[in-house]
Amino acid sequence: MSAIRSIPWTLVISIALTTGIFSQSPPRATNPTNPPRSANPPPRLEAVAETQLLMDGLARPNFGGLRKILSDKPSEIDAWKFARGQALLIAETGNLLMLRPPRGAGQDTWMARSTELREAAYRLARSLAAQDYLRSRAGLVEVANSCNRCHQSFRVPVRVSPLPDAEP
Ligand code: HEC
Repeated sequence: MSAIRSIPWTLVISIALTTGIFSQSPPRATNPTNPPRSANPPPRLEAVAETQLLMDGLARPNFGGLRKILSDKPSEIDAWKFARGQALLIAETGNLLMLRPPRGAGQDTWMARSTELREAAYRLARSLAAQDYLRSRAGLVEVANSCNRCHQSFRVPVRVSPLPDAEP
């Protein structure tokens, strides 16, 4: 008897805890409707470049390239393909713009203008893929309009023109 009494009860309890005797919840593997969550949170999109850099590095050069290629009907298939790529990069710029809306008022307008740019440029990319010159010319005007609509909304004194040899 004295031997049993001398068992340290803290040891018994800690064994019970580690072997799960006191545990009420069923093992996770038997509960497939509630699978264990991944320990890592999903990656978050984060704006890193200035808007001005997106304009100078993506919007302006790709728009200028399209204006040049479409000043005449392209005869080479590679020119159509290249132009399609430029239009898609402008469309993707629309996505990047959505990561950096201005604070406060103007957010909704910014999102709407960015979406317009993405959609107009994506439509243009599809016309270029179809090698449809007239639709592509009209599409370039649509893209220019969406650039200018955002600039007007946010009082940016830059006017984009679809005419060949125009600036910027
Ligand atoms: C969602 C809004 C938005 C859209 C769409 C947009 N821009 Fe801009 N753009 C801006 C803002 C804001 C600035 C001013 C950036 C700054 O100076 O910080 C700017 C500035 C510019 C500048 C001047 C950059 C400089 O160095 O000062 C050019 C060129 C430009 N945009 C071209 C374009 C072209 C081309 C398109 C369309 C293909 C376009 N933008 C579409 C918001 C927009």
